[in-house]
Amino acid sequence: MAIGVTGASGQLGRQVLDNLLQSGVSAAGIVALTRDPAKLSAYAAKGIVVRAGDFDQPAELQASLKGVDRLLVIPASDLRPGIRGPQHRNAINAAKAAGVGHVIYISTAGAHRGQDLFKSHYETEQALFASGLAWTVLRMGMYYDNLWMGGIAYALSAGVYPAVAPTPEGKVARSDVAAAAAALLASSGHDTHIYHATGPAALTPADVAAAIAETFGKKVDAVTVTQEQYDGGLKAAGLPDFVVDAIGGIEAARAKGQLDIVTHDVAYLTGRKALTLKEYLASTKHLAEAKAAAH
Ligand SMILES: NC(=O)c1ccc[n+]([C@@H]2O[C@H](COP(=O)([O-])OP(=O)(O)OC[C@H]3O[C@@H](n4cnc5c(N)ncnc54)[C@H](OP(=O)(O)O)[C@@H]3O)[C@@H](O)[C@H]2O)c1
Repeated sequence: MAIGVTGASGQLGRQVLDNLLQSGVSAAGIVALTRDPAKLSAYAAKGIVVRAGDFDQPAELQASLKGVDRLLVIPASDLRPGIRGPQHRNAINAAKAAGVGHVIYISTAGAHRGQDLFKSHYETEQALFASGLAWTVLRMGMYYDNLWMGGIAYALSAGVYPAVAPTPEGKVARSDVAAAAAALLASSGHDTHIYHATGPAALTPADVAAAIAETFGKKVDAVTVTQEQYDGGLKAAGLPDFVVDAIGGIEAARAKGQLDIVTHDVAYLTGRKALTLKEYLASTKHLAEAKAAAH
């Protein structure tokens, strides 16, 4: 049985490939699809079949999916409104036309019709359910890893972790999403299931602030701000409007409790417990030290 992975050169995609190889899946039975096959030359050298795969090139994608039985669709990264929904529909249609039997889609916790980031996942799920293909959905929480994109640095310099409401949220390590996705690809019995990849506990902003404080030995307090102040901080950091809309939209969904879900699905699928935020931060603390050393 051949296993396909779209978006295979991304951070999540590479970790899925690594997990598949580590779990004993034959490299020759893995088809890694990416917009830029040259980026995966190290995986090709291990025997993985690397092919061109771009959601914006559906005919080429369909040809590249020939012979794939079970396909993981990793969502694309273009957050401009209206882009991802059609891209993901292209992937589903290409899979169907190529004779793929089963599609596993990585969606998001809280997928709903609202802000475009969530809507694109919601629409993809609906398209997959209606496709006639065997399907599995793995809804992921927001990565702990996102904290390294400014949240930790801001908390350590300003001593505060801003949030719009004290609502809890089920975050997760990217590595656990990858392990869960690889487990879904390498085993059967998951048809028509929706799983949630989350860490082991729901975290309030105060919990996140406390974990950062404990890891780095600095005082960090959670502070409540308005949505306007939150979005204003993102704008002040120089982010373009559509990114402010996406990140602000995540915070708005979190504040409403739409991301407040915790499951044991990572442990169920992988056989090992999902990382806690403190474990994740302890294992990545060197990133801050490396940044500090570089300055
Ligand atoms: N839950 C969260 O907190 C969170 C955070 C960040 C991102 N995400 C989502 O999860 C996805 C994977 O995360 P990551 O950490 O691996 O992000 P990443 O390293 O930025 O990877 C971006 C991904 O988008 C794919 N992509 C972009 N345009 C594409 C296209 N036209 N056709 C097919 N694939 C396309 C890339 O595939 P190739 O380059 O190999 O073609 C790659 O897999 C992201 O794309 C995003 O949708 C979730």
